[in-house]
Amino acid sequence: MSIVTLRPITRANLLECLNMQLGEEQKRLIAPNASSLAEAYVDKNLYPWAIYDQKERGWEKPNSNMVGFTMYQLDSGVGFVLRLMIDERYQGKGYGEAAMREVIRKMKLCPAVEMIGTSHHMDNQVASALYKKIGFVPWDIGWAKKYETEVYLRLKED
Ligand SMILES: CC(C)(COP(=O)(O)OP(=O)(O)OC[C@H]1O[C@@H](n2cnc3c(N)ncnc32)[C@H](O)[C@@H]1OP(=O)(O)O)[C@@H](O)C(=O)NCCC(=O)NCCS
Repeated sequence: MSIVTLRPITRANLLECLNMQLGEEQKRLIAPNASSLAEAYVDKNLYPWAIYDQKERGWEKPNSNMVGFTMYQLDSGVGFVLRLMIDERYQGKGYGEAAMREVIRKMKLCPAVEMIGTSHHMDNQVASALYKKIGFVPWDIGWAKKYETEVYLRLKED
């Protein structure tokens, strides 16, 4: 079973989501969670999630800190992981990999999803290695060419 559980962002945990922190050099690699939640408010294809340790599974109100945030998009046959961040206090413990695998599992349950995609900034070596390990390969999609600093990936199915 996954070491993370994904839970909705609600009035109860909104501030915690907004207050999570990244390392100084990581902030340029991902949009702030406030921007992601604003985008999700106006775009019903976006699904934001709070990431908690698996010990919160089955509890209506989590007792421990949120460890991260993720958001995916379901559009045009593609389940696309738009955001993944783990608070700097909880990085390096396996939560990022587990959360990515959990959003992939969730997206695959949706009948409209024909393939899984994601992207990262070209300087983001940690994300690059993590996504490769999970099974992502380069995705040659025409519209991506205008985003020159972003690397686009798709999940290679066996
Ligand atoms: C990318 C990110 C989500 C990874 O989360 P994490 O919980 O630290 O990752 P994990 O503990 O699951 O580790 C995943 C892999 O990354 C590696 N890793 C994690 N932090 C690292 C670091 N600071 N330096 C080098 N490697 C690192 C781990 O070694 C692991 O690889 P391994 O299993 O082969 O050893 C996190 O670093 C983060 O939030 N970064 C800033 C935002 C970002 O870049 N998001 C992704 C692109 S949108």
